[in-house]
Amino acid sequence: MATLQIVHTIALLRSRLAAARREGARIGLVPTMGALHDGHLSLVRETRKVADKIVVSIFVNPAQFAPHEDFDRYPRTLDADANKLAAAGGTDLIFAPSVGEMYPEGFATSIEVGGPSQGLETDFRPHFFAGVATVVAKLLLAAMPDVATFGQKDYQQLLVVRRLAADLGLATQIVGAPIVREADGLAMSSRNAYLSPSERKIAGQLNVILKQTVASLRSGTIIVAGEAEGKRALLAAGFDSVDYFAVRDATTLGPIDSLDGPARILAAAKVGETRLIDNMAV
Ligand code: PAJ
Repeated sequence: MATLQIVHTIALLRSRLAAARREGARIGLVPTMGALHDGHLSLVRETRKVADKIVVSIFVNPAQFAPHEDFDRYPRTLDADANKLAAAGGTDLIFAPSVGEMYPEGFATSIEVGGPSQGLETDFRPHFFAGVATVVAKLLLAAMPDVATFGQKDYQQLLVVRRLAADLGLATQIVGAPIVREADGLAMSSRNAYLSPSERKIAGQLNVILKQTVASLRSGTIIVAGEAEGKRALLAAGFDSVDYFAVRDATTLGPIDSLDGPARILAAAKVGETRLIDNMAV
């Protein structure tokens, strides 16, 4: 199997990409934290449609984990990830920096995005989007890609990154890619690996309940009732707690009381120790 080149420093990444750019290549970036699955690979395929040279970054970003979260046990599988990317084709370069490369001694900057960051994930992970925005800004500045692709799986994150790129006037076009699901509809996630077989069964109900709620809202159920029923159904299906199950404006994520414009249901719930998120267009 062909092996993929892995660069570990920003300087080397820049010099590789400068050479490609001189040859007229459009550069695409797919930021990830590794433990790659078909959802990540689909981002590479989407990016390939609009760029000639694809960089996949693999970096488990400490700044987006709270002290009590799973930073230490988050799967780190660089060799397997490189093999998957090589086998799938379409990737030209892997950027896998160390923590010290991304956050050098004395690092003291944080990027706070307002707007779509407010509420939902932020109510439960208050520092999460500052950590994401800071690392994504750094990755975009390191690679200066023409396009960067993010999954709709993390819908609020996608809107935060769009806001970040627009507000900082970055030259990168932000592409949102569809959610890739398992056969039973569970959204693929590196964290699904934490689920025991019985938890995995319960997890599969999240997207079923999202679908049922979409149907019920479309047939006239009022939004607050749909949200309450969704939460109840998740607990009845075996979820241990529901952080949120919310119908929001699909572009601002602000609360809505009718389905006049595009809307999205966003949900976060815990099964055992594992926190799952998913979302669906209404
Ligand atoms: P990670 O969870 O590894 O996800 C990397 C990218 O893959 C994100 O854009 C995410 O939305 C997308 N993705 C994950 N599962 C998906 C699925 N089932 N279908 C489609 N896309 C999917 O998100 C992060 O890493 C980090 O926050 C990051 C943006 C890399 C910043 O550290």
